[in-house]
Amino acid sequence: MFEFLVWLKETDSTQRRLKEGNFPCGTVLVADRQKEGKGRKGRRWESQEGGLYFSFVLCEEDFKNYSQLPLVVGLAISDYLDSLGVRTAVKWPNDVYAKGKKIAGVLVEKSANRIVVGIGLNVNQDSFPPEIRESATSLKLVSGKDHSRVEVIRGLLEFLSSYLEEYREEGFYPFKRRIEEKLLFKGEEVIILGEEPEVGILLGIDDRGFLLLQTSEGTKSIMAGDLSLRLYR
Ligand code: ATP
Ligand code: BTN
Repeated sequence: MFEFLVWLKETDSTQRRLKEGNFPCGTVLVADRQKEGKGRKGRRWESQEGGLYFSFVLCEEDFKNYSQLPLVVGLAISDYLDSLGVRTAVKWPNDVYAKGKKIAGVLVEKSANRIVVGIGLNVNQDSFPPEIRESATSLKLVSGKDHSRVEVIRGLLEFLSSYLEEYREEGFYPFKRRIEEKLLFKGEEVIILGEEPEVGILLGIDDRGFLLLQTSEGTKSIMAGDLSLRLYR
């Protein structure tokens, strides 16, 4: 699955580099820091030294249906972190949480006939910029020790290639239950800000990876949006 790996000290965004360059499928680009790390919807991804920031290229013909890729990649990251003894949850549609805070984010984008997947994983950061100080955490903050980023990426790429191969061969079906088992906010009252704001109890996900919500108007499946707990009413 992963053929070449390039590791830079600094770049604007590994995601942008892979989207703009003509890299073959299987290329992995890692950077120690990013000056303009991006999240979903053009949001900023804080990318100071200590974290792992990488993107990789997949061939579209291998992944005709890639709409559930953020969830499958999120599960691979979450299961890898669990294998290190760090309990994590998958936050629909594209994040991984530890101790109630975001430890990793996944960005999947299509560019020509390739799919570019970006992962930001907080590894050895001791602290974060004020905007995300309350909402972000790192592997070091939750495990109490430093981690070798070379070992982390090696282990993570093994999990990723095995999960992506399974997804390519068998589709989303084998992942649905595994993701539901570690879905953040399951059974809780949540709000989803998307085209139409929706409030309800988070039930799980469906076969397409849409979020299932029990609302006052019955069960709804939601394709996209920003999910948070409904704390005030
Ligand atoms: P969430 O609901 O978890 O806040 P989101 O889905 O609304 O995330 P995304 O677009 O997935 O937002 O992620 C971008 C957001 O993640 C940023 O707006 C910022 O709040 C947060 N963020 C940025 N950098 C980091 C980081 N290194 N670690 C954790 N969180 C970060
Ligand atoms: C999110 O939670 O919104 C997704 C964050 C994805 C961040 C990674 S870091 C490596 C790659 N390069 C980027 O500019 N973004 C992704």
